[in-house]
Amino acid sequence: MDVTKFVNEKMEEIKFTVGSEKAISALSGGVDSSACTILAHRAIGDNLKVIFIDDGLMRENEPQEVAQIFADLGIKVDIVDTKDEFFSALKGLTDPEDVRKAFRNTFYSVFGREVRNSGARYLIQGTIAADIIETKGGVKTQHNILEQIGIDPDEGYGFKVVEPVKELFKPGVREVAKELGLPEKIHQRMPFPGPGLATRIVGEVTPERVAKVRKATTIVEEEIVPLKPFQTFAVLLSDKGTGVVEGERRFGDIIIVRSVESQDAMTAEPTEVPWDVLKRLAKRITTEVPGVSRVAYELTTKPPATIEYV
Ligand code: XMP
Repeated sequence: MDVTKFVNEKMEEIKFTVGSEKAISALSGGVDSSACTILAHRAIGDNLKVIFIDDGLMRENEPQEVAQIFADLGIKVDIVDTKDEFFSALKGLTDPEDVRKAFRNTFYSVFGREVRNSGARYLIQGTIAADIIETKGGVKTQHNILEQIGIDPDEGYGFKVVEPVKELFKPGVREVAKELGLPEKIHQRMPFPGPGLATRIVGEVTPERVAKVRKATTIVEEEIVPLKPFQTFAVLLSDKGTGVVEGERRFGDIIIVRSVESQDAMTAEPTEVPWDVLKRLAKRITTEVPGVSRVAYELTTKPPATIEYV
């Protein structure tokens, strides 16, 4: 792919389609939405409104870091604080499918509200070729985004979805992101699931439990990301295990460390993390994350296990 040519053509296309109307982009910090956001901003400047929906399920400082990266590139990002809405929707749920459904419904309702309130006529969406294939195969619903956010495309609301990178696969999107000046932190970013840390919590998703898995995730990333895994993270189980902390017995939390190697996330192998790193992880997580008494490293391949837990 001639990436410079691709970028120039797409910018022209977006300019032509959107004209002098307003467009909105929901940034997640992932490479797809980041590439589309910067592409659209280069095309239509401040007629693009960029929002980051803070659902409370992101990693440590993620919304602020992503907003700063874009601010450095001259793009203002509005962080929309919707944490309370998400936590009340997830309250009391423990079944993985219920959690995912509640997340999805809340996301679409919040997103739809933001789109409608923005006065935008165009929605810039980071759909990539794999999403379209998976939508056709019934795995994803991403392609019907207007309907998902409660906007009927036939009802004349005037909304249109613009998908600038829909013919590219992930490596192509990474190239575009790099070409447009996004830092390596974004263009080589590990996949992070839409429902965020909720996919790494077994049992109820509460602010306290999210804080625990978030802190453990920071430690796991600090220790394992230098090994360049496909994906690595911490998981909080609902089971407990006895530990002794400062001379006292404690029935504490169990954290699983998961790190996998994969090409396309369809199959995965556990990362061969050196023993000294694993031992350091166990020590750090039990001392730095309050309430955790045990740490285990996961060895399961995909299949039979999935990469995420929920
Ligand atoms: P699983 O857990 O199914 O994950 O083996 C495969 C890949 O997909 C990511 N994943 C998601 N990504 N929304 C996303 O955008 C989701 O709901 C979701 N669930 C899983 C996962 O992180 C892995 O890279």
